Formats: sequence, structure tokens, C-alpha cells
Amino acid sequence: MIKYFNYPNATNSDWKKLYKFVLDAKQTSSSDKKVEFEVWKKRWLSICKRRPYSSVYLLFDKNKIIATINAIVKNPGEKSEVLLIIYNCKDFDVLEKYQQQLLIHLNHLSKTFKSSTLTARHTIIDKIAKQANFTVSNQLIFFDLDLKKYKPNKKLLSKGAKSIKQGKLKFRFVSSASIEEYSKIAKLFTTLLNDIQCANKSRHYLVTANDLLANEKNILSKTLYLFLFDEKDNFIGMSVVSYPRKKPVIVNQYMTGVLKKYRKQGLSTWLKIKMYEKLKSELPKITNIKTDCYSKNLGIIRINKSLGFDTVKSELEYIYKNDN
Ligand SMILES: CC(C)(COP(=O)(O)OP(=O)(O)OC[C@H]1O[C@@H](n2cnc3c(N)ncnc32)[C@H](O)[C@@H]1OP(=O)(O)O)[C@@H](O)C(=O)NCCC(=O)NCCS
Repeated sequence: MIKYFNYPNATNSDWKKLYKFVLDAKQTSSSDKKVEFEVWKKRWLSICKRRPYSSVYLLFDKNKIIATINAIVKNPGEKSEVLLIIYNCKDFDVLEKYQQQLLIHLNHLSKTFKSSTLTARHTIIDKIAKQANFTVSNQLIFFDLDLKKYKPNKKLLSKGAKSIKQGKLKFRFVSSASIEEYSKIAKLFTTLLNDIQCANKSRHYLVTANDLLANEKNILSKTLYLFLFDEKDNFIGMSVVSYPRKKPVIVNQYMTGVLKKYRKQGLSTWLKIKMYEKLKSELPKITNIKTDCYSKNLGIIRINKSLGFDTVKSELEYIYKNDN
């Protein structure tokens, strides 16, 4: 049975069931596992508060939660409104017998919003998405870099360094910023996100200063940026990573890029190399960097490969557009 998780009215027992599921489904990294129930609940509530139009659905097998479906609404009410549907499950094979319920639920969700998108993390989700008339919009590629074996490529680094010198650019690592600075960062982040090379650009991204402030305040994970600035101190490029505050082992790299005018000068490669140098020297326990991108984003794929990333897997992203 699929139930809406009505969190303001949920009982402590409902919360505990969800907490257990989250831990079991390894939705948290090993170091996050020690997070106490109350801390986890507080964090979950703060995420819900930031996403008032979003909901969580729980798939029950008898009395046990076996999957969650997060439905996050971006740009509510606008032309660019999009519902991001995220299926979380420890073992997707068990969803086989719930296919019909999941299909009805997905049909209902996708008819409620202007457009909906999901990433198929398993063939069952692929199947359900197709049955609900979703079509493939993009392919995502997931990469992994073994930081223990990684050696910075001096030639690649010097190409970017030369461009930095010529362009009189400056750089700075940032983990905390003022709201004014976050507004500038959010603008750069939004521009780069909307500029990603992909097969189907049906999504419009918007990052706000408040989103970035909330990331800074996240009690579980830490966000670290490396920025490039021009002579007038405008933000022109960035690389951002996030990792668990306690005992970080794996780092996620979300966005690396520079504004159009500064491309093909080795700057993004340089940003990545500098970021890994910093992580290696300050957090020696880190073993891997994970990142992903669209299969059409040839620039970042070339960079990741030149830096020694391995391709781990690929997933299809689906979209449904509601014509009503
Ligand atoms: C993709 C992106 C990051 C590349 O940045 P960049 O600063 O131009 O990259 P670099 O100059 O370091 O390029 C490294 C290599 O990739 C190649 N490359 C860069 N963009 C390319 C493209 N669109 N197609 C093919 N190759 C490309 C460069 O020619 C260079 O190759 P070389 O080593 O043989 O000279 C940039 O286009 C960008 O900011 N895009 C928008 C944001 C984005 O997509 N970020 C990645 C999100 S996952």
C-alpha cells in the first residue's frame, strides 16, 4: 500500500519506521549512520519546511516501509513547473509485485503537475515510467575517482594556470558566505546549470541564496566551493563538492564550470585539480570522488576522463509533459 507521509501529523512510531527504512536502505553514508533519530528528524523537518510543495509517499509491505517516493516540486505554478520523482529502495527487485500500485501512483502524480521527471535507478522503474507514458529525456553517466591512486596531471594544471595568469583571474575556496555573496553565487550556479549540454533541456533550474545558506547550515554535510573571479571580482567559475561532516570518506562533486567567455582555456580542469589537491591535503581519509553528468555533456566527460575518473554506471532520465 502507498501512503502519503503526512509529516505534521505523523506519530513518533511513523517517524521511527521511516528512520529505520532510511538507515536500512543506506540512504545515508556509513558515517551518517550514527546520526541520532532526533537529529535526523530535525533535519528532515527542515528540508520539508524548505520544500512546502513537496511530498513523501511510503510504500508499505504489511507494516514495514520498503520504499519511499519523494515528489519535489520545482518552480510551483510557473510555466517551468516540474515534479522531480525520486524512488528510494534498498532492493528494487522487491518492487516487482507492487508494479501496478506504483503505476497508478505515478499516473496520478504526473497528471497533477505541468511536467514530471524521474531517473530510473532500476529496470522496474524504467518499465513503470514507460507504462505511464514517460519518454527518455537524457542519459546520466556516473563517475568515480579513486583519490588514493590519483596523481594531478601537471600539464593540464599548467594550461589552466596560464589562462588564470593571462586573464588576471583570482581564486578562493569558500565554505561560508554572506547572503549578498550567496546571491552572486546562486546567479552563477543557475547560469551554469541552465547551460549544461544535454539531450532535452526541458528543465529550468533555479538556485537561490537561501538554498545555499541552507546547505551551509546542514548539520550532516559540508559544502565547499572553489571560485574564480575576474579583475572586477565578479564570480566567473566554480567547482562545488559536498561530504559528510563526520569522518568524510566519499565526496560528491556537483558542479564545475565557467561562464561561456572563459571556456576551452583549461579553467574547469584546473578548478577540479585544485579542488582534489585541497581535499587530499586537508582530508587525507577521503578515498573517492563521485560525480555524474549527462551523456551529451562532452566537455565535462572529457575532463573527467582526462583526470582518471572511471565510468561506474548510467541511468535514463524520463519526462512526462502534461498537455491538459
Ligand atoms: C563543460 C564545461 C565545464 C567545460 O569547461 P571548460 O573550462 O571549457 O573546460 P576545459 O577548458 O578545462 O576543457 C577541457 C577539455 O575538454 C574539451 N571541451 C570543453 N568543452 C567541450 C565541449 N563542449 N565539447 C567537447 N570538448 C570540450 C576542451 O577542448 C579540453 O580538451 P583538451 O584537453 O583536448 O584541450 C563548460 O562548458 C561549462 O561550464 N558548461 C556548463 C556547466 C556544466 O555543464 N558543468 C558540468 C556539469 S556536470
